[in-house]
Amino acid sequence: MKKRDIIEVTDLNENEVRELFALAFRIKKNQAGYSAALKGKILAMIFQKPSTRTRVSFEAGMYQLGGEAINLSGTELQLSRGETIGDTANTLSGYVDAIMIRSTSDSDVDGLAVHGSVPVINGLSKSFHPCQALADLFTVCEKKGLDEKSVMDFDFSKVKLVFVGDSNNVSRSLLNLSGIIKYRFGIICPEKFMFSGAEFGAVKKVNQEIYSSSEIDPEYMKDADFIYTDVWASMGDESEEAERKKLFGRYQVNRELLDKAAPGVSVMHCLPARRGQEITDEVMDSSNSIVFPQAHNRMHLQKAILHFLLKGIK
Ligand code: CP
Ligand code: NVA
Repeated sequence: MKKRDIIEVTDLNENEVRELFALAFRIKKNQAGYSAALKGKILAMIFQKPSTRTRVSFEAGMYQLGGEAINLSGTELQLSRGETIGDTANTLSGYVDAIMIRSTSDSDVDGLAVHGSVPVINGLSKSFHPCQALADLFTVCEKKGLDEKSVMDFDFSKVKLVFVGDSNNVSRSLLNLSGIIKYRFGIICPEKFMFSGAEFGAVKKVNQEIYSSSEIDPEYMKDADFIYTDVWASMGDESEEAERKKLFGRYQVNRELLDKAAPGVSVMHCLPARRGQEITDEVMDSSNSIVFPQAHNRMHLQKAILHFLLKGIK
């Protein structure tokens, strides 16, 4: 059987995304039933950037499935001294069953997948954060009251998620996922940091219900089910922080913005948050906020990803 990688959500088709959500529902409900599912399997995790959620949710998830995880910081690998990504991939493939990488470079993630003979999972790159987007839509499914059965034919056009913030790795994976399961996705972002027309247009070809604007239009916001935000300057963008703070200031997710949406709107954030910048304490700690269940679902959905890649989807 040919190995599969998850470099971006587009590595999965619609049915596989639905199956993944169904499996995550089953695993979350019946943790004990999966406690030996990946017995004897080893996941290597390479971190070239900091992480709290991805690191701990993958490691704990692997243990809960009966497997093991090895955590490697970028600096302790020979990769940091010039060993090629191909040689690293070939070597690790002989020791472990899967590799997760959080990288400073998209090409290292691609290189691991091309040269490695074991599945590679992107745990965040400059361009994409597929595990985040998949876990987020799993959280949306829970919030909509779905279960392992109903998720298989749910009409995702009933979901409207508005991302207020940067066109970054997280929003790109959310955008791309909207091209697969066809939920209504909108991004509100300063012109300068908006996705290119070509990138947006490619998804629009398959999902007409996507939207982008540099204005916060109350008409568009009023039926949002989910408002999502992320930091204005991602890891690696720190040198632009001052400029970004100025341009993004009016896009803060605060009470005034929330008031434009329905009272029951849920607020999401991939975390870590810069409280007081892209989101206020008031909103983050409000009853609208689902940021912690969202963070916790990273583990359940990633357990489903690990199961899918190492043992199959059923
Ligand atoms: N959301 C997310 O990926 O968090 P970490 O950077 O803590 O892994
Ligand atoms: N966009 C953020 C996400 C962190 C999980 C970053 O890349 O820093």
